[in-house]
Amino acid sequence: MGFTFSTMTLNLVLLMAMVATNILSLYHLSSTLQSPKSPKPPPPVPDQLLHQLHTIRATISHLTRLQNTHNPAQKSTIPSDLLLYSHLSPIASSCHNHPELLHKYMTYIPFSLCPSDSDLAESLILRGCHPLPRRRCFSKTPQKPPVSLPENPFPSSLPDNAVIWDHYSCKSFDCLNKQNPNLGFEPSRDISRFNSYKTDLDLPIQQLLQIAAAAKSALRLGLDVGGGTGSFAASMRLRNVTVVTTTMNVAVPNSEAVALRGLVPLHVPLQQRLPLFDGVVDLVRCGRAVNRWIPLTVMEFLLLDVDRVLRGGGYLWVDHFFSKVVDLEKVYAPLIGKLGYKKVKWATGNKTDASGVKNGEVYLTALLQKPVSR
Ligand SMILES: *[C@@H]1O[C@H](CO)[C@@H](O)[C@H](O)[C@H]1NC(C)=O
Ligand SMILES: *[C@@H]1O[C@H](CO)[C@@H](O)[C@H](O)[C@H]1NC(C)=O
Repeated sequence: MGFTFSTMTLNLVLLMAMVATNILSLYHLSSTLQSPKSPKPPPPVPDQLLHQLHTIRATISHLTRLQNTHNPAQKSTIPSDLLLYSHLSPIASSCHNHPELLHKYMTYIPFSLCPSDSDLAESLILRGCHPLPRRRCFSKTPQKPPVSLPENPFPSSLPDNAVIWDHYSCKSFDCLNKQNPNLGFEPSRDISRFNSYKTDLDLPIQQLLQIAAAAKSALRLGLDVGGGTGSFAASMRLRNVTVVTTTMNVAVPNSEAVALRGLVPLHVPLQQRLPLFDGVVDLVRCGRAVNRWIPLTVMEFLLLDVDRVLRGGGYLWVDHFFSKVVDLEKVYAPLIGKLGYKKVKWATGNKTDASGVKNGEVYLTALLQKPVSR
């Protein structure tokens, strides 16, 4: 704001300077015309122009000096949260901070096929260069696209030929499943994932819907933050609730998998402002992608942005958030508390896998309701 204002002021002053120098030059010209006694011929026109240019240059350098001396004052008025966030996730300028990647990304032949560089785009986005610049080229499509796409959001397999595998070590969904069956590339395996109740850390969708219905709070639209291959959105689809999923393609084709299930993948990293307007969703779920590995300040901004997109009375579901037990008590619970949400559910439990035991980690599953109005 301050910057825009001072830029406008500067433009205005420059405009006035131009007018002033023109008047000056007119005066100069007329004065030379009025003094025929002068032994010398009137200075040729280029000198007049040069004079004008000198004046303009002097004005500009004067203004620049003024601007520079004003800068320290301006700096002190930059909101501290802007400085903090720029440090966490440089805004736009981070594209310039990675010229080698950006130049590579923008090197292509207009109106021809884009280079096959989705990995490059991913790298730029994860470095905070997002949105990426647009390009005037055609992105590559799979050579033999599938003739039919699954209607069911929990198909037993996903069509390999719908994906460009160039940048992945695996060349099929089968291979990904063999590497890690929990990645969600065999969607049918996930069909009951959000419907079962094994421990207190689970919140079956049925129960979630009952809680919302009892509170007379409609659940129609949701956002799944870091939702991988979209199984939560798929489960909600079966309940006629529309959920969009933010997901990244770090080493695996998550976005394609979500889309192949007929769901909406948003290619958005955790540090980016959510591409949704204020108060437009009824539910936000943060799954395991949101965990103690995220720097605390980034988490603060994320939670506050989640709050922004949730409507009053909407729900935040923190699903299997993990951290060290002491951090949950001292750091994360107080942070979540700052949102001022109603604790509908708050369950903790030991994380019993190898790394959980080693690091003394616990899970938190919480369902929190945003105040109806503030
Ligand atoms: C979802 O909507 C369809 C079509 O309107 C309807 O037939 C179905 O019963 C609904 N399912 C649920 C779980 O409400
Ligand atoms: C969780 O882990 C802690 C520390 O390892 C242990 O003392 C506690 O009994 C465990 N709780 C449960 C419910 O297993």
